[in-house]
Amino acid sequence: MADKEHFAQGLSIGIIMDGNGRWAKQRGLPRTAGHKRGAEVFQDITRYCNELGVESVFFYAFSTENWKRPFEEVSAIMKLFGEYLHKAFDYQKENNRVVFMGDRTALEPRYQSLMDEIEGKTQNNTGMTLNIAVNYGGRPEIVRAARLLAEKVQRGEMSPEQIDEAALSAAMYTRGQKDPDFILRPSGEKRLSNFMLWQAAYSEMVEMDVLWPDFTRHDLDLAIEEFNRRSRRFGGL
Ligand code: IPE
Ligand code: IPE
Ligand code: MG
Repeated sequence: MADKEHFAQGLSIGIIMDGNGRWAKQRGLPRTAGHKRGAEVFQDITRYCNELGVESVFFYAFSTENWKRPFEEVSAIMKLFGEYLHKAFDYQKENNRVVFMGDRTALEPRYQSLMDEIEGKTQNNTGMTLNIAVNYGGRPEIVRAARLLAEKVQRGEMSPEQIDEAALSAAMYTRGQKDPDFILRPSGEKRLSNFMLWQAAYSEMVEMDVLWPDFTRHDLDLAIEEFNRRSRRFGGL
């Protein structure tokens, strides 16, 4: 690696944490064992992103479509999320600003309170922004933004002509943050599955065959190196 100190400095990275179920199945374990391991990997990769000087990281933890799964699996994932919320206060000492993306009103009220509290307590932190998408979908996020802007127009706070890309971006959960430079999807799948549809307009896609519970710091190095080899043109030459 050329320059480990700087090769990830200032990057914005989306991560679709996928393959937990297949990892468990390979080992004859219940799918929930994969989610448990996946949650540990998430915490380690968060710390690593922080060490690398990443500016923003967006983790896809639970989609608006994942409610279709069996009740037991959804409950197990939510329980892990609740356990994480108690630990998330650690990120205070790591100086991370924590932002939750998604419709939290569908989550348990005590989780909602914790989420509000964590966001509030970390909002002035100056380190990496750690975004966690729970009950998140890219389309619902765009619908919500449209509604927020429509309400502003109705209240006379803005005119329809003032609705532009900047106004929409500012109405997203990710307001003020750089769009992801690349979106990483482990597990070999090659789709966005409703993740960051607005923000991914010019993101590079990096797919990897490793399953999320097996994902290591070295795999993130490989993904960043792959991204650094890409030539981005943004429609120009
Ligand atoms: C990702 O792993 C975790 C969530 C979607 C919550 P999966 O549970 O989708 O694992 P696979 O894709 O079935 O292997
Ligand atoms: C996307 O993975 C959602 C998360 C990783 C949280 P899925 O496993 O739900 O996506 P599909 O069903 O394969 O598209
Ligand atoms: Mg999956």
